[in-house]
Amino acid sequence: SAAELGDYHHFMEKEIFEQPVSLENGMRGRFADDGSTAFFGGLNLTPQELRHVDRLLFIACGTAWHACLVAEYLIERYARIPVEVEYASEFRYRNAPLDKNTLVIAISQSGETIDTLAALREAKRKGYRTLSINNSVGSTIARESDGGIYQHAGPEIGVASTKAFTSQIMLCAMLALYLGRLRDLSYGDGVEIVKALKAMPEQIREVLRQNDKIAAIAKQYANYEDCLFLGRQLMFPIALEGALKLKEISYIHAEGYPAAEMKHGPIALISEQCPSVFLATSGEIFHKSLANIQEVKARKGKIICIATEDCDIPEDLIDDLVVVPECHEIVKPILMSIPVQLLSYHIALERGCDVDKPRNLAKSVTVE
Ligand code: G6P
Repeated sequence: SAAELGDYHHFMEKEIFEQPVSLENGMRGRFADDGSTAFFGGLNLTPQELRHVDRLLFIACGTAWHACLVAEYLIERYARIPVEVEYASEFRYRNAPLDKNTLVIAISQSGETIDTLAALREAKRKGYRTLSINNSVGSTIARESDGGIYQHAGPEIGVASTKAFTSQIMLCAMLALYLGRLRDLSYGDGVEIVKALKAMPEQIREVLRQNDKIAAIAKQYANYEDCLFLGRQLMFPIALEGALKLKEISYIHAEGYPAAEMKHGPIALISEQCPSVFLATSGEIFHKSLANIQEVKARKGKIICIATEDCDIPEDLIDDLVVVPECHEIVKPILMSIPVQLLSYHIALERGCDVDKPRNLAKSVTVE
């Protein structure tokens, strides 16, 4: 209803703007007093039991599956535990051999997605310990998993997931921190991560203040029918999510790709008719991303670049730029998601689409 929307035009818009608060709510009470780690009340696994886990398997669908891909990078990097990610619908029928010390984690905003639930049940049937990350207290997936983490992001009404996605990433980052501190992550590194997470809501507010600028950029890109989203490492899942978001609500054909894989196929699509959204973050492989931007530019593709502050991008190389505050690597997937969400939102509006109720899609898919 209009009352619930307040001053916003759509639930998607409201939910994008709620993120500083939804993320604060997901962090509250979950940092240890020593300021170097996170903890969760409902895992039902002791630190000793968690130390014996030597593989994590994440299962999910849709946007939540993209959050799992971010989890893979973060947990492998900070906790040094091998992670696998599967589409729930594939895992269910694949009969994959799993190591006996594998912990299965289902991510689901609604906690009711049938494919995720069926995959969870299959994992349980085989005797695996299971956890879930979900946003709906008392949901079927929450009840049936052995332990879990509630997102506390508040109800998400818009069909295209926004605040639930960033909340899932944040909880995976906190899980990486917790598991890392049970292993080799140092006290000092832990403190840095906790500080970065706490500083994040304010940095998101900074990004949200660029809404008008992003809307103006969106206007110029609303009439294309194809779009690529490119990013490397942690930005690859965000590229996939950006492409999904754009497809879902604006019906523009979009693909997300690891930027370096572009030369193995998608580069054939690049022309004046197919713009690219580049997600560039500062750090060790920034110069590689720059090389990928050059490859697109050389083929006359328009480029929107979303970049963290310290990226030094030659102005003549790109058409439009959105700058995100510099931050700890663990926070980058969240901060970089915000302009991506706003961009699809404004492009869809520009095209006259019903952003909250896109055609053919349901908020929660409870039939196979
Ligand atoms: C549907 C929604 C997506 C969502 C997916 C998984 O397809 O339209 O936005 O990501 O289901 O939903 P879940 O509730 O399990 O996260």
